[in-house]
Amino acid sequence: MLHQASGSSSATEQAITDYLGDRLISIIRSHNTPSTIWRFRAGKQAYVLKAELGSATTLQRELRWYLRAAAVGLPRGLFVLGQAGSAFTFLLLRQFGDTATLDDAALTGRAAGDLGGHLRRAAAMNATLFRRTRRGVPVEVVHGVAARRIDKRVAEGMSHPYLLPLLTGRTVTVNGIPLQGLVRSWRDVADRESAVRLLTQAEVGLIFGDLHCGNILVDGIETEIVDPRGGPLLPMAYDLGKLVQSVEGGYGAIMTGSYRLRCVAEDEYEIEIDMPPGYAALAAWLRQWLGDHRYQQALYQAAQHFLAMLPHHASARRETLALALSGILQFQRLREALAG
Ligand SMILES: Nc1ncnc2c1ncn2[C@@H]1O[C@H](COP(=O)(O)OP(=O)(O)O)[C@@H](O)[C@H]1O
Ligand SMILES: [Mg+2]
Repeated sequence: MLHQASGSSSATEQAITDYLGDRLISIIRSHNTPSTIWRFRAGKQAYVLKAELGSATTLQRELRWYLRAAAVGLPRGLFVLGQAGSAFTFLLLRQFGDTATLDDAALTGRAAGDLGGHLRRAAAMNATLFRRTRRGVPVEVVHGVAARRIDKRVAEGMSHPYLLPLLTGRTVTVNGIPLQGLVRSWRDVADRESAVRLLTQAEVGLIFGDLHCGNILVDGIETEIVDPRGGPLLPMAYDLGKLVQSVEGGYGAIMTGSYRLRCVAEDEYEIEIDMPPGYAALAAWLRQWLGDHRYQQALYQAAQHFLAMLPHHASARRETLALALSGILQFQRLREALAG
């Protein structure tokens, strides 16, 4: 395999596919990550091989995350083995269930209590990890790290002219309602010390770091999490924000193209996101489970998550507009939640 890695990526993919032969179940490719996933069977167990060519920064971090989690005593979970190399990195996991995610379960209309149980179990796994690794950090430092990241992403986003009205506009009309543009919404909170204090935890730890509902796997009443993001320690609200981004912001639906978007004018849009049927009730469940304060903190993170991902998706214009509009709506919800 390492030898093949010096050839073209399609030759390498073909080599892995050929090697697996009739053990191969399917290949999963998500459009916004550079890795490829092979599902295959060996004996009675099904496995997932996630592999990426080149420096594979994301997958190398993911692998480091598993090693770090093991170092703090977390059970091995699905992790079997992995290897990071300069030309090729891979990760081998046991397959969990039939690969269905919480997004998939919600699409089938499962009850909110059932979906909520999976969210609670996923959040509990994250909390265990956090408890074992947490350390106090001044609010200014925690927020400063986030703010520098957002400011950088905003600057990158500005290089895409079609995004300018949504980023810098005083007003963006969404579904007939005039709302504040993204940068103003962001600065509105980030420049107010009292708001920053209210919305930022003075504590960081090791968490999954990408706990959206497409990374939460469900099998009956059992839950697992995949696709952790290795990197700096983070506040727990970061992942609670990922949950809110999925359940309220329709992140998964946007990623699968399940939305309709109409541009009425440069700063006026209509958007309808096909939220999975289970999510309306789950959103209410999540809000209650979080409580007012944690919900506000999570909303602030969710809005930032939408903002942060714009430059990386920018070549897919409609998708990026949908993400930006959902970000604007999340900031509006935050304003409403803060106004009480
Ligand atoms: N260990 C696993 N067991 C079952 N399904 C998995 C497993 N790992 C990944 N998957 C399936 O593949 C999808 C993409 O995997 P993920 O690691 O999230 O990759 P990506 O980086 O492309 O988001 C998941 O949403 C899930 O459906
Ligand atoms: Mg994923």
